[in-house]
Amino acid sequence: MTDLDAVITAFAAHLRTARHVAVLTGAGISAESGIPTFRDAQTGLWAHFDPEELASPAGFARNPALVWRWYAERRVKACAAQPNPAHYALAELAKHVPQLTLITQNIDGLHQRAGSPHVIELHGSLHHARCMADGSVHTTWDYDEKLPRCPNCGAMLRPDVVWFGEMLPRKALETAWEAALKCDVFMSIGTSGVVEPAASLPRVALGRDAAVLILNLEQATAARPPLFTINGKAGEVLPRLVREAFGK
Ligand code: OAD
Repeated sequence: MTDLDAVITAFAAHLRTARHVAVLTGAGISAESGIPTFRDAQTGLWAHFDPEELASPAGFARNPALVWRWYAERRVKACAAQPNPAHYALAELAKHVPQLTLITQNIDGLHQRAGSPHVIELHGSLHHARCMADGSVHTTWDYDEKLPRCPNCGAMLRPDVVWFGEMLPRKALETAWEAALKCDVFMSIGTSGVVEPAASLPRVALGRDAAVLILNLEQATAARPPLFTINGKAGEVLPRLVREAFGK
């Protein structure tokens, strides 16, 4: 039995008896769908693009057409991408546990396309635009327009995503925080855990004695129950974990 086998077996036992599982995902879960992460030194978005220019209110005020173009390109790529086995494993997991709260920092919509219900989108969505004047949220708009306008009032639309320096959507954050406080099992998947407040959620759960799994490609630090770490690909590890726990 390898270390990985042992961690999967032990954590699967927690999943089998869990009443409420909370899952936090980040860019790493979509990496195997071909969507770049943010902080990979070679392929990460922030190695090639300036977040101050493209993901901040000041950047949008300076050059809204440039910001819109960047998000439009990301939206087209997300639509062309397919959910991978990790997204599907979480959709499957939801069928086996009494309660599952899926919280994502991703804006690509791949969890929903894999069949996960009620996804909490902490950082908004590439598939939504918001009116700068009346705050209305739109799921379609004129995609050919360089600076799309609100169909209700004609004011400028902006991507409905969270930019640096902005607050997270209040309801989504409350739901995520409550899940971290109340769950008995927490999984953090494919996130570097450096962006707050999402980064605090596993610590909150650990503070309440939940069993916590951290799964990413970073070198796993030594951990002992109730904290578990796996250094591996989500698309390989998650299906194994769900199979081990529920035989699917
Ligand atoms: P990061 O790019 O910071 O981290 C990606 C994580 O995924 C790293 O820990 C990788 O080791 C891991 N990873 C990569 N491929 C993986 C795979 N196949 N399986 C498992 N893990 C894998 O992305 P996030 O943590 O999501 O915010 O970044 C958080 C936030 O920072 C983003 O939502 C974005 C960004 O600035 C905003 O834009 C507001």
